[in-house]
Amino acid sequence: MFPAELAADARILWRLARGQARHGDQATRLQAFYAPQAERYDAFRERLLHGRAELVERLQIDEGMRVVELGCGTGSSLERLGPRARRCASIQLVDLCPALLAVARQRATGNANVEVIEADATRWQPADAVDRVFLSYSLSMIPDWRGVLDNAVAMLKPGGRLGVVDFHLPAAGSALCNGFWRRWFAHDGVHLSVAHLPTLREMLADAYLEERTAPLPYLPGLQAPYYLYIGQRNVESHGVSVTR
Ligand SMILES: C[S@@+](CC[C@H](N)C(=O)[O-])C[C@H]1O[C@@H](n2cnc3c(N)ncnc32)[C@H](O)[C@@H]1O
Repeated sequence: MFPAELAADARILWRLARGQARHGDQATRLQAFYAPQAERYDAFRERLLHGRAELVERLQIDEGMRVVELGCGTGSSLERLGPRARRCASIQLVDLCPALLAVARQRATGNANVEVIEADATRWQPADAVDRVFLSYSLSMIPDWRGVLDNAVAMLKPGGRLGVVDFHLPAAGSALCNGFWRRWFAHDGVHLSVAHLPTLREMLADAYLEERTAPLPYLPGLQAPYYLYIGQRNVESHGVSVTR
């Protein structure tokens, strides 16, 4: 890695070490946390947030679909969607953090079907029901996580799919490990829970589930637990493809 990249990583690591502010509303806290990282956000998160490309693949986003991402950050999912992005009827990228949305807006320039929206994902609703909604490492950063899941399911067409990739506390994890990860991530405003995955599975019919672990940048030997989940709204049969 080049010295300039190392220096940029050091600035991100310093911000992560300082943690997220405890005061102010959610939008203020997010802006204070992410504004100093926005420029280097994508390069660092590429090594931290695993499974994002796979989530987009597994969502089977087809031509003409209406797609929403809640907690889109810099809109990097547009890169992962690739040429499919232009074939969607609409892609609405929603986030509460102006610094990250500024990067998303640059990225979306020239894509007439992409809309970048500054809003709270627990309340914002599209004008029409959509085919796909996804949350990529945002569920654990939204304090009212049940609220955002209710809101996400409410915007889906019957048969539409919700995809989530995120860190979590595995039900089978030891109290020691889960306690470590809970405190580790909470410092940066990321609130891991054992309840996220079971709640998703209660709300939707499983289409895909996998629980995994992944390495963290600059922390050799540590493996953080995360999952990939896709569920379908209003479908009777469960368990199309479930792996653990
Ligand atoms: C870890 S980042 C993930 C961003 C992006 N999805 C990615 O994969 O790079 C979590 C995102 O959730 C956003 N977020 C947190 N609370 C939110 C809320 N209530 N409404 C909308 N976005 C929110 C943050 O601003 C941030 O962009």
